[in-house]
Amino acid sequence: MNKTTNEIRSNFLNFFKKKGHIVLPSSSLVPHNDNTLLFTNAGMNQFKDIFLNEKKRPHPRVTTVQRCLRTGGKHNDIENVGYTTRHHTFFEMLGNFSFNDYFKKEAIMYAWELLTSPIWFNIPKKKLWISVYKDDKESYEIWNKIIEIPPDRIIIIGDKDNIQYNSDNFWQMGDTGPCGPCTEIFYDCEQNTLNHHLDTFEKKQDYLLEIWNIVFIEFNRISDTKIIPLSAKSIDTGMGLERIASVLQNVLSNYKIDIFQELIKSISYFSPIKDLNHPSFKIIADHIRSCAYLISDNIIPSNEHRGYVLRRIIRRALRHGHKIGIKEIFFYKLIPSVIKIMEPFHNKLNCNKEKIENILKIEEIQFTKTLDKGLKLLKKEIQKTKNGILNGDIAFYLYDTFGFPIDLTADVCYEHKIKINYQEYNQEKEKQKKKSSLSNKFYKNYNEAIILNNNDTCYFQGYQKYKTHAVIKTIFIQNKEVKKIEKNQIGIIFLNQTSFYAESGGQIGDIGKLYNTESYFKVEDTKKYGNTIGHIGKLIIGKMTINDHIYSKIDTVHRNNIQLNHTATHLLHAALRCNLGDNVAQKGSLVTDKYLRFDFSYPKHINLSQLQKIEKIINLKIQNNILITSQEISLKEAKKRKAISLFEYSYKPIVRVISINDFSIELCGGTHATRTGDLGYFKIISYSSIASGIKRIEAITGESTIDYLHKIDHDIQDISLILKSNNSNIKENINKLIIQIYSLEKQVKQLQDKTNKYQIKKLIEKIEHIQDVKILIEILYENHLKTLRTIINQLKNKFEKGIILFINKKDKNITAISYVSKNLINCITAKKIIQELLQKTHGKGGGNNEMAEGGGINIQKLPLALQHIKLWIHKKILNQ
Ligand code: ALA
Repeated sequence: MNKTTNEIRSNFLNFFKKKGHIVLPSSSLVPHNDNTLLFTNAGMNQFKDIFLNEKKRPHPRVTTVQRCLRTGGKHNDIENVGYTTRHHTFFEMLGNFSFNDYFKKEAIMYAWELLTSPIWFNIPKKKLWISVYKDDKESYEIWNKIIEIPPDRIIIIGDKDNIQYNSDNFWQMGDTGPCGPCTEIFYDCEQNTLNHHLDTFEKKQDYLLEIWNIVFIEFNRISDTKIIPLSAKSIDTGMGLERIASVLQNVLSNYKIDIFQELIKSISYFSPIKDLNHPSFKIIADHIRSCAYLISDNIIPSNEHRGYVLRRIIRRALRHGHKIGIKEIFFYKLIPSVIKIMEPFHNKLNCNKEKIENILKIEEIQFTKTLDKGLKLLKKEIQKTKNGILNGDIAFYLYDTFGFPIDLTADVCYEHKIKINYQEYNQEKEKQKKKSSLSNKFYKNYNEAIILNNNDTCYFQGYQKYKTHAVIKTIFIQNKEVKKIEKNQIGIIFLNQTSFYAESGGQIGDIGKLYNTESYFKVEDTKKYGNTIGHIGKLIIGKMTINDHIYSKIDTVHRNNIQLNHTATHLLHAALRCNLGDNVAQKGSLVTDKYLRFDFSYPKHINLSQLQKIEKIINLKIQNNILITSQEISLKEAKKRKAISLFEYSYKPIVRVISINDFSIELCGGTHATRTGDLGYFKIISYSSIASGIKRIEAITGESTIDYLHKIDHDIQDISLILKSNNSNIKENINKLIIQIYSLEKQVKQLQDKTNKYQIKKLIEKIEHIQDVKILIEILYENHLKTLRTIINQLKNKFEKGIILFINKKDKNITAISYVSKNLINCITAKKIIQELLQKTHGKGGGNNEMAEGGGINIQKLPLALQHIKLWIHKKILNQ
């Protein structure tokens, strides 16, 4: 009996438990505190600091099943998903790790034992091939001498383009970070080859499936050109669960393993297509898992950063749903199946089920509105292409107007063997960015890969000082390290110390200037890069060079406004807990100079009185003008004082605690007002539910509240002027107006009914009879289609057997509506009458056998068309 995927997962963990490893949980798909990585892409990510010797190891030997996402960033597989048997955006990685404990020999022997031992995976040894890095003689010897793999089964892999360590057998997490040579184990997928073990590697290549990668972490990559050895050597291994399941279940494709087959079956329920090998089924099955876990890990679809990756995956899946003929809102309905197949191991999904379903449903409803139109346009454009290349401006138009992510457009083009002119697309995108008033915010999109030497640190002085003397340590322009920056160049400057607060914990980065007597660099944003702080901006005057002495001075008005909002966020958090209970948990926050946004979990609706109560408590605290204190204390002590901590953060042993009396005690690295009185006034400006069980409050403080209240005053004044009333009786006047509108609507309806009755009476007089069939063909004026429908409905009972055709002239529009009684539809139908009329008058329309409508009728063609239709109907009746 083949092992199920769930059994394989547990077998793996049990094997390594037996070898002295502890089992740790998977970390989130969102790497914690790591700017170098968009998403968790390997099991080792959560141990990065341990490999680099910056954090204590939890145990010398660890094993995990890590959820990973490979889209965006260094490891990107999305384009292959669905078209190969192996690629995924989301997958699970089985891994064992040794931190300065066992090394090459044990790591290789453990892997071999698990794969080949009859009591474990029992794979025939002759089905396995090995690769090693060219300089790694030690691994070669272990494979050859100890495990006894013949030399023709061990492939030695060198560097590409003669660049050292640029090799398939040298693994790196990203552009920087822990790395080292690796040895890989391949499975030979060719059937019946056990007797041909002398085949060469070249001949075999198409059949070899990489199943396990064993990495010897020995180095830290600092930049493109710099790599330094680590003092402690470690092991990091990774085996894709879906791949090993395909081997052990003998199915040759990841999408044929038990869990995917079940998921694909549930997708096929929505589609008329019966061939379950269709790539779209695989793509949807892959993407729904990514989406479920991303949302469960607190990513919400949006237009930037991680949220945009999620949106792109959702939209790509919806496009494939469309392709296999799914007509309903379906994507979120797959979540129960995802939970069912993943549940045995990850119960996290089930806890977030409602949230995931709601977010997916909203996204699908929104995108479906434009998907169809966009696809039609794209197909037309594809037909028009001559040289097999789609113009970049079309791709941009689809992105801008229909919300088509570029990889969705690329995916459709790929199916038609057409390429996109990316250069043109990017140019269009740039043009628009420049046009947009937010143009200078492009700094936000700078390359995430700039990570400096980890030994670089920048001492943050900005809690106490708004201006600091500093020395320039490093400069980056367009992601390249340079010695100097000149006038009008945009770049990132790194200092030994600074007053600038780098964006973190929801608080945005400072703005301000770096300057000395000769030069001035305008700082537009500040971000963290590892242990150091990047000042992002433009050189306005002079030039700046490494080792220059300068001053860093923040924009104090900007900072003060941020601080007011940050303190207000703590007050809000405390007031919410105090009013709604301790189960209110922060889910995210944004603190800017203009407003604050606070997302939190709370299952019920919060009504206006509750919100006002919260606002009142906060304003009382502001009036009490309480001193805000910050203290560095041990984490233990902070816990004793019941300080609120956030998310699944891992805190250092010494933490910073911000206290506002006993009312609010929170772990926080941000900057705050001195006293609560500085906030002036706190005002909630919006409350909403952003997902099931997650609420969002937006609020303002200080001067912004005055502007806000003034705006409301102006609005009220304008409304009073429109209503010609004074401020005190606006409500009364609006109520009166509404009552008036109701009564007028009633009168209009009564009048309309009377007119209709009169009109019907007149129309009845005009009914013609041909044999036993009643026929009424009339031109009417100034009626709404709705009124015509009502008239027809009222006339119907006079037409037990009959035909009605109304032509209505209203303004410049001419419309037509037709009715045919059921007992005539074998000889003539309403739809046919309208079609016949429209054919002669160049109009458009549709309907069914009994009722049909049309519009856009050409007035010049109408008289002849009417004559024709009358004759046509008569003929049909006479021939019935
Ligand atoms: N970190 C290694 C990989 O992802 C094991 O392949």
